[in-house]
Amino acid sequence: MNVFVTRKIPQSGISLLQKHHQVTVSNQDSVLTKQEIIDQAKDTDGLLCLLTDTIDEEVISSLPNLKMIANYAVGYNNVDVSFASKKKIPVSNTPDVLTDTTAELAWALVFAVSRRIVESDSFSRAGKFKGWGPMLFLGTDVTKKTLGIIGAGRIGTAMALKSQGFDMNVLYVNPHKNETLESRLNAQKTDLKNLLKKSDVISIHVPLTDETHHLISEKELKMMKETALLINTSRGPVIDENALITALENKWIFGAGLDVYEHEPRIPERLKKLDNVVLLPHTGSATKETRSNMAVMAAENMIAGLSGKKPPNCVNPKIFE
Ligand code: DGY
Repeated sequence: MNVFVTRKIPQSGISLLQKHHQVTVSNQDSVLTKQEIIDQAKDTDGLLCLLTDTIDEEVISSLPNLKMIANYAVGYNNVDVSFASKKKIPVSNTPDVLTDTTAELAWALVFAVSRRIVESDSFSRAGKFKGWGPMLFLGTDVTKKTLGIIGAGRIGTAMALKSQGFDMNVLYVNPHKNETLESRLNAQKTDLKNLLKKSDVISIHVPLTDETHHLISEKELKMMKETALLINTSRGPVIDENALITALENKWIFGAGLDVYEHEPRIPERLKKLDNVVLLPHTGSATKETRSNMAVMAAENMIAGLSGKKPPNCVNPKIFE
């Protein structure tokens, strides 16, 4: 069968796919528009797409042979899963393989913000370091503070478990009790308001859904401590970005670390001007090992789906009932 891959991904996944199917990889190393996907994938049986591709009703309806959609990401808000389900097309994602990698990046942001790493690096490179100073780049401690995890799924749990070395108290907001966090960290499940008021480091790990859109807005930012750090490695629209900019400009919180943006890849100029935010280009899962593992996982899902089996990481398994 024919598989269309919307952008170059690690060869491990492409080679695996090639053993089973005729594979075409977009020759454009940039995000394809919906029309470009429709034009380039028109005869495809399988679509291997990225989180930057919009795979909505129009795209799915325009690909008459489509039998399988393998998303190269754990988040799949870019795919209209309910429409794909109506057409009995399986959709898969790439969970687990990127859990620790994304949690590590969340921690990188915690320290980048708390110890003002990016500002200090720019200062040093600019030749402004004239000697140790008692008031130079004062940050904020993390050890023994309270970590608030919003969304204690796979990545939120990994992020929290990695706090053990810093002896933190852990609060979490999640629809269900997280036995691992409660038994291993003595973590407490709480509500969003309490978490925002009590946490020193707040890290967001929820999927983007109608319920989580603008979960953190002006009201929530005003509940946080003036010394709080806000980290987002999930999806940009979970935070009302304008409200966050106002919060950072007015020092309602100590700082923020962002890997994702409300209107990605656009980063507002007002945000770029601020020193109390660290801005990354959505690199949560960006290690060589993990991106290669994601490619294999997406390929395995594709191969299973095209052979009529339930893909191992199917996000709409009900279509097989
Ligand atoms: C994903 O896979 O959904 C993450 O955003 C990767 O960083």
